[in-house]
Amino acid sequence: MAEHSEAINAAKRAAGYHAADMVEDGMVLGMGTGSTVFYMMERLSGRIRDGLSVSGVPTSYQTAIRARENNIPLTTLDDNPMLDLAIDGADQVDPARCLIKGRGAAHTREKCVAAAAFQLIVVVDEAKIVKRLSGMVPIECIPFAATPVMNQLRSFGGVPRLRDGTKKDGPVITDNGNFIVDCRFDEIDNPTELEALIAMVPGVVESGLFTGFTDKTTVIVGNEKKCRVIT
Ligand code: 5RP
Repeated sequence: MAEHSEAINAAKRAAGYHAADMVEDGMVLGMGTGSTVFYMMERLSGRIRDGLSVSGVPTSYQTAIRARENNIPLTTLDDNPMLDLAIDGADQVDPARCLIKGRGAAHTREKCVAAAAFQLIVVVDEAKIVKRLSGMVPIECIPFAATPVMNQLRSFGGVPRLRDGTKKDGPVITDNGNFIVDCRFDEIDNPTELEALIAMVPGVVESGLFTGFTDKTTVIVGNEKKCRVIT
């Protein structure tokens, strides 16, 4: 088990470092959330120490904290509504480069930076690559509408469940002050259609399905030895 997680961490590190090396001087970045992105930030920090000039829009409090620790200058979408590059992790990636994201409940802001970016670099380990998206889709919704949102998701064939906090009683509250519903779908035949369907439910803020960025997405698949790049 320890060996297994060491191998996964090495793969994540390789993907994160590869992405950090794609950053060019003067770029404004979108910075996702999660362990693979943190490896990217670790490497970027070293490049900044060596003279690289960049700034980044963080997608969570956690990423903002890590960025400060790594001396990565922060900015906002208000000051930089157009980004050169967004770098983010994912929970699943299919052959069309559609994604499931949101394990860390940061997918709403992650979708905003992905939309604002000229290019999206997705950093993952091999275990995230799937033939077809399936399983848990995180959905951020306003607390007021959680019950009707879950009823609608059932009518789409999903099995929804409100995400509970750890080290906190009751539901997870996102950085935007909302709830997360994790909705299980056995097989997702048409992720684009499902993303659009979920987006139309009143009270839904964003789902973790990312199907609209495939044309500008490059996937870096980390491996203990080297990276595979899917464009
Ligand atoms: C957070 C996310 C993460 O990017 C995704 O869960 C991957 O995380 P990790 O790199 O830790 O495996 O979507 O909301």
